[in-house]
Amino acid sequence: MTPRPLRSLAPRLPAGLLYGGDYNPEQWPEEIWREDVRLMRRAGVNLVSLAIFSWAKLEPRPGEFDFGWLDRIVALLAENEISICLATATASPPPWFSRAHPESLPVDASGVRLSPGSRQHYCPNSRAYRAAAARLITELARRYAAHPAVALWHVNNEIGCHSYECFCDVCAADFRAWLRRRHGTLAALNDAWGTAFWSQAYGDWEEILPPRKMLTFRNPGHVLDYTRFMHDSLRGLLAAEVAAIRAVDPAAVVTTNGLSFHRPVDVFSFYREVDLAAWDGYPDPALGVDDAAFNAFNHDLYRSARGGQPFLLMEQATTQVNWRAANALKPPGQMRALSYSAVAHGADAVMFFQWRASRAGAEKFHSGMVPHFGVEGSRVFAEVETLGNELKRLDALCGARTPARVALMVSWENRWALELESKPIAFSYERIVRHLHASLWAANVALDVVPPDAPLDGYDVVCAPTLYQLTAAQAESLRAFVARGGTLLATYFTGVVDESERIWLGGGPGPLRDVFGLAVEEWQPLADGGNALRLTSTSAGSAADVPCGAFADLLHLRGAEALATFARDFYAGRAAVTRHAFGRGEAIYLATEPERAWLGSLLAEVLRRRGLVAPVLAPRGVEAAVRVGAGAEFLFVVNHTRESQRVDFGAWAGADLLSGAACAGATTLEPFGVRVVRRDISA
Ligand code: GAL
Repeated sequence: MTPRPLRSLAPRLPAGLLYGGDYNPEQWPEEIWREDVRLMRRAGVNLVSLAIFSWAKLEPRPGEFDFGWLDRIVALLAENEISICLATATASPPPWFSRAHPESLPVDASGVRLSPGSRQHYCPNSRAYRAAAARLITELARRYAAHPAVALWHVNNEIGCHSYECFCDVCAADFRAWLRRRHGTLAALNDAWGTAFWSQAYGDWEEILPPRKMLTFRNPGHVLDYTRFMHDSLRGLLAAEVAAIRAVDPAAVVTTNGLSFHRPVDVFSFYREVDLAAWDGYPDPALGVDDAAFNAFNHDLYRSARGGQPFLLMEQATTQVNWRAANALKPPGQMRALSYSAVAHGADAVMFFQWRASRAGAEKFHSGMVPHFGVEGSRVFAEVETLGNELKRLDALCGARTPARVALMVSWENRWALELESKPIAFSYERIVRHLHASLWAANVALDVVPPDAPLDGYDVVCAPTLYQLTAAQAESLRAFVARGGTLLATYFTGVVDESERIWLGGGPGPLRDVFGLAVEEWQPLADGGNALRLTSTSAGSAADVPCGAFADLLHLRGAEALATFARDFYAGRAAVTRHAFGRGEAIYLATEPERAWLGSLLAEVLRRRGLVAPVLAPRGVEAAVRVGAGAEFLFVVNHTRESQRVDFGAWAGADLLSGAACAGATTLEPFGVRVVRRDISA
């Protein structure tokens, strides 16, 4: 893993870490622009995303373009050495477009065509939208692609955020074409969807509709294929915008901003279309450490999606958002702590939505880098300015990697299947992933997030939360991983169906029964603490029962040993957590969801046996992560709590690169405190 700074991929980017945000100058009179740029320089801003929502201003009437204002702001930014991530400006089609092309508006499952007037109001398959977008992009690229300040392209905005499904007639026809490509014949489709059930067999392709609103349960295979089709439509939209840019400038460097573990968009698939990964992180300050942990999961996900290459944190809030039911402030220091957490996990860019808080419109109560209050005496701007200037001390870090020997396996296909209706319980895959991840995060050991078809050679431990959908090929890869010495840990309701939503007969975990040394006959949902684990003598942990919940698989052991059994109900005494030696490795199965602390100690023990330990000794809520560059490695310690915490720096004693303060032995970190220590690596 050779360190490669983003600049080696996008040569027009400034050297050093990137700092800035979305800049929407069209919302403000031009007199303000000079002040904006002056303040940007003061705050250390070196990159802005421009023109994301500017379509109506760039093309006020069909085919009539006005680039004058954009020329002026591009020139002003360039003069001030602020680089530009230029948007394709396609995120919100203007009113004239929706009026001329009402068929481009998305249709919901009830057949209601949605109105324009907010944003992203397009059907992902609309020909008119795609054509108009391509025309606009071509004009933009012709005019700005060669501009030395335009370092990157920002494709659309959070594709699939609002518009991720459409049930219009265009989508219906495209869906049928997609199904023909996937299944080849109607016989194969009928077989995959199990249409023998409820008299659903199709005799003609034209009989197939998108799964619109129905009386009761829709056919699961039908809904799953439609979800895949919509995903591919969104990816197609992304690819079409990238192609329009590259048709003008084949060397253009492109990215697009993703969301937090967003159901409709498979990050592993999407980010194959672009050069750099980027995402928008909005952890809820009210959730404290829990959301900081899940934010870190997303950092690892987006870094992993591009093979470990540094990513851009394209947006975050300086303090408050406006779109939750209640929008908490980030207390002093939290924005800084979360920013360094991003860098610790591989971000080489720390950016915000948005530069100047809007005066009007739907997001006027969303914080910005420049608050309505003004900058002098502002707590928010002071934190923005301090961070931007402080980040310059870490320029040597650019391109540094995050080597990991632990993989957290997540799968969008699995998620789409698991969350279909008519299951034993309405599952939330995000909740399941969060639970397992929180315990791994607390161990402070580097991890990659990988899909089930990823090569697993470089990993010692693979944790796969509820891999309900498991293909034969995926099972083969996991079997080989364990056989050659890996540790695989899986949780309940794993290996239940194949890629067509057909049950693996013989009991879960389907094709992995021999690897785990067990078979699942029945299962049932549990309330939180709905049962408890009784630890067997061979397992680590306390003598007291450990609460568990969410789900219970009822196991038949076929070679696995029980580390814990269920304590209550008619299946009391039956195995709940098991271990099985297989080949040169081991496979651990959790038939239920143990409470976090115990799960954490189980995982810590699994990791410790592999020699995987935290770089420093830190209490819960304090994150420690290492990035490895050319000739040096960097330890980040981030206190995500509102209290002071003691951290033992052990072998990492040194001076904090940010403040110069000594970090040695047991050192106190203030609330939301951050330390970065550098250590040379001998060649
Ligand atoms: C993002 C979006 C921005 C802004 C921001 C508010 O989802 O890309 O345009 O809406 O959220 O938090």
